[in-house]
Formats: sequence, structure tokens, C-alpha cells
Amino acid sequence: MPLTTPRELFVHELADAMSAEHIILEMLPELAKEATDPELQTALRDHEKETRQHVKNLEAVFKALGEQPEPTTCHAAEGLRQEHQALHEEQPTPEILQMANVTGAAKTESYEITSYTALVRMAKEQGERDVTRLLQENLDQEKAMAKRLDAVAKALGDEAKAAAKEGGDARKAEEKRAGD
Ligand SMILES: [Fe+2]
Ligand SMILES: [Fe+2]
Repeated sequence: MPLTTPRELFVHELADAMSAEHIILEMLPELAKEATDPELQTALRDHEKETRQHVKNLEAVFKALGEQPEPTTCHAAEGLRQEHQALHEEQPTPEILQMANVTGAAKTESYEITSYTALVRMAKEQGERDVTRLLQENLDQEKAMAKRLDAVAKALGDEAKAAAKEGGDARKAEEKRAGD
């Protein structure tokens, strides 16, 4: 069906968001399984619950609009999933895999934030107040998750730096002992 009106584009974009949420819902438990950092694990598990609510909110949005989500695949989310799979072929250590997963999850949140920002604007333009509120709820949670991931990324980066320094110090001490 050709898209000819802003309303049709809005509904089309909503279907894309729905597809993205379903793909993300499949990815989150996998990321949580690969996480060794307790903060990260909790953040991913919490966001899995939130993501289930995002799907419910989108269902409520479609209902309020009297529309059905067309079957579609969000190629952006699918691409992010493929990037995650491709990373495994690089044989990362568990620590490096976890760091890469945090970056991947942050990219996903950025995509969702951009999507929902546009959807909230479109809902306002359509004069859909209840729909705006539901979409805003999703947007706020994506933003909060992006912040959590940023904090985890910094903490993991600091830990890696400290571990590298410790390793370097131990090596120097070892060399000194060997030299004495
Ligand atoms: Fe989401
Ligand atoms: Fe998200």
C-alpha cells in the first residue's frame, strides 16, 4: 500500500518500532547471560521487563488508533542483532565480549531514543494525547537505560584500566626480582 499521508507514515513507523522491540526482547536475555558484571546483569534484566511493557504500550497505541501493526522487520534492530552475532566470531574473552555488548546495547538504545522521539512528535502532530503519553513512557525508559549503560561502560573501562596497571606493576616487580 503506498504511503501518502503523515498518518500512514506514523502507523508505518509504529510497526517498525514494534518489530524493533520484539527483536530486542530476544536479544536482552542473551546479553544478560553473557554479562558477568552484576550491575550490567541487573540493568539488562530490568530492561527486559521494561521492553515487555514497551510492546504492551505499542499494542495499546495501535488499539487507540484503531489500526493493526503490519508485519514488518526493523532492519536497523536486525542489523544490530547481526553485529552482536558477528562479534562472537572474533573470539572475544568474556570481559571483552561484555564490553562490546554494552556498546551494542547503547547503540540499540540510541536507535530507540531517536525512533520514539520522532513518534512522540508525530503523535502530538496527530493530536493523539493518550498515544503521546504511552510513547513518551517508552522514550523515557529508553533514555534511562542509555544512562545506565553509559555508567556501566565507564565502570568497566575503569576496571580494565586498573587491571592493566596491576598487571604492568606485577610484571615490573617480577623483572626487578629477576634482575637482582
Ligand atoms: Fe524499547
Ligand atoms: Fe531499549
